[in-house]
This record gives sequence, structure tokens and C-alpha cells, in this order.
Amino acid sequence: MTGGERVPWVVGVSGASGTPYARSVVNGLLDAGEAVDVVVSRAARLTILDETGISFRDAHWHDDLATWLGRDPHDVRHWTPGDLGAGPASGSYPTKGMVVVPASTAAVAGIAIGLSKDLLQRAADVTLKERRPFVIVPRETPYTRATLLHLLELHDAGAVVLPASPGFYAAPQSIAQLVDFLAGKVLDTIGVPHDLVARWTGTLGAARDADPR
Ligand SMILES: Cc1cc2nc3c(=O)[nH]c(=O)nc-3n(C[C@H](O)[C@H](O)[C@H](O)COP(=O)(O)O)c2cc1C
Repeated sequence: MTGGERVPWVVGVSGASGTPYARSVVNGLLDAGEAVDVVVSRAARLTILDETGISFRDAHWHDDLATWLGRDPHDVRHWTPGDLGAGPASGSYPTKGMVVVPASTAAVAGIAIGLSKDLLQRAADVTLKERRPFVIVPRETPYTRATLLHLLELHDAGAVVLPASPGFYAAPQSIAQLVDFLAGKVLDTIGVPHDLVARWTGTLGAARDADPR
């Protein structure tokens, strides 16, 4: 990385359901003027295809990423998940931190025990060992005991565990608003400004007027 380049956030997309969350997080980072390094796991290619109909091919990553994000990905660097020589595989490669969204239970387990079975897990391990901001967004229900213990391990290692559980108190009118709510929580956690959600102002509004108590 040369002196003029911006230090990126790493976004790891693993093979859990909820790939629209990843799209919203990446777009939110780009909207805020941040650079993003993206690692999409092998399994996540299946979930992206299943959830959006978009293929994610290494040979066509620029076009596929543009289609997925709905914008020119000129501030995005794409790394293939098998590339263990990639920048984010090393602690000497500067990053601002990492978000894993959505996180499969397999990714949760692999990161919790330091497995580093692919670039996504290795980049996560690097982020934790370097004590950089690390947010993980698990998506599974219900959780097994093993997953709950792995999440506690990650919490204790410095991760922010931010489950994919959007709130409904802003009375969302669309799925996109629920997705953006979750992405906004991620961006709040890493201190990146955004306007993805209408913020709670401390009043219940119409609901308070209708409260029978
Ligand atoms: C359509 C589809 C949806 C899936 N949804 C989930 C999910 O919500 N949570 C989860 O933990 N795994 C889910 N999986 C299974 C993971 O993709 C699988 O465990 C995979 O090995 C994860 O690999 P990765 O962590 O390297 O991406 C799903 C798989 C498919 C094909």
C-alpha cells in the first residue's frame, strides 16, 4: 500500500443468510467516503446467488460487485477467499478493522478458535490479534450451545457481537428499512457516520397517544 492510499475497512461476507446486510454495510461505508476490502467466502457466493440472483465470479468480480452493490466499486478492493497471501492476511497490512456480515456459525466457530481456514477467517484472526475494531453479525436461529460459547469467546477476545436482529420500533415500511437498520447499527458501532436509520428521539409518538395505561 502506497502512502496516498486510504486505509480500508475489511468486510467479510460468509455463507449465512442475510447477504443484503453486507451490501448495505459496504454501501454505507462507501457513502461515508471509506475504502473497503471485500472477502466473499465460497459459501457466500451461494447465498448471494440464492438471495439476489447475482453470480459472484472471481474472473468477473468487478462487474459482479458493481451489480451486487448497484454502484461502481472503484473504492472497493476484492480479495478471493482462497488467497492466503492477500493483504488482509497479514497484520502489517493496515486496516481500520473488520466486519463479518452475515456470519455463519461455521465462521463464528472458525474465528473463535483461530482456525484461519480461508482468507475471511485469517483476516478476522489478524484483526483480533492486532486489537483492531471487530464486529461480527451472526445469523442463525436457534443457536446451539457451541455457537453461544463461540460468541462468548469472541466477545471476550474484543469482538462486538451484533446479532442480525433488526428492531421494529421505527415502524419499518419495507424490508430494505430493516436491512438498513441493522447496517446502521454496524456503522454506529465502528463510528462511521450514516443516515440509514431514523433515530429514536425519546418519544413514542402515536403509540404513546394510543397507550391505554
Ligand atoms: C441458502 C443457504 C443459506 C444458509 N443460511 C445459513 C445461516 O443463516 N446461518 C448459518 O450459520 N449457515 C447458513 N448456511 C450454511 C453455511 O453456508 C455453511 O455452514 C458454510 O459452510 C459456511 O461457510 P463459510 O463460513 O466459509 O461461509 C446456509 C447455506 C445456504 C446454501
